[in-house]
Amino acid sequence: MKRTNFFLLIHQALRRLLFDTAQLLQQTDFSNEDAASAALDAVRETILLFETHAAHEDRYILPAVADYEPSVADCFAREHAEDHRIGCELLAAAEAVTVADAAARAGCGVALQQAYRSFLAFNLQHMDKEERILNDLLLRYYTVAQVMGMQFRIVQSTPPWIHDRIAHWMLLGNNEADTVQWLKTVAAGAPQLTYDTLLQKAEALLPPARWASLRRRLEITPVFA
Ligand SMILES: [Fe+2]
Repeated sequence: MKRTNFFLLIHQALRRLLFDTAQLLQQTDFSNEDAASAALDAVRETILLFETHAAHEDRYILPAVADYEPSVADCFAREHAEDHRIGCELLAAAEAVTVADAAARAGCGVALQQAYRSFLAFNLQHMDKEERILNDLLLRYYTVAQVMGMQFRIVQSTPPWIHDRIAHWMLLGNNEADTVQWLKTVAAGAPQLTYDTLLQKAEALLPPARWASLRRRLEITPVFA
């Protein structure tokens, strides 16, 4: 039986974002101002979405874990503080590129990539730990419905424009079966407009063959199956 992973959809989204930004940074010629600007936008979005995600966990997930395992919750809260510190270093490296003149920008680009790799390595390990340790504790102490309630409160507290970017990366980062499951949950509980907007986004974002396959599976899969 497939093990429930409460973090899967959002973490796959964040991993895809991490990898895409890493690839963009590697391919960017930082002496080109427009190319550097596009890379910096991607870095800023990456930091913003990771900070938002950590804040959600601090507010809605860790307190639930702390009720039963306070030392574990404290350990993850400290990891989030360390993540924030690494993110600040990355942001400083990005800002150094913006103020550098053309001659200095290439060197600043190298430093930015080093800072980014630290951020990427830390977050890959951090998310893996959450999917093993925090996920097991949530399964031990709470029902699936209770954890889904926490996730619902996270969605409710997220500004629409940030939620739009998270949905973008969730569509790009998850496999078809998990995307179908996610969209079925949305169809069952969210307004029709939310579901339709997600489908429009999927059509615009996914390669045609992938979108056609996803649409087929949504048509043949009952919402409450
Ligand atoms: Fe986290």
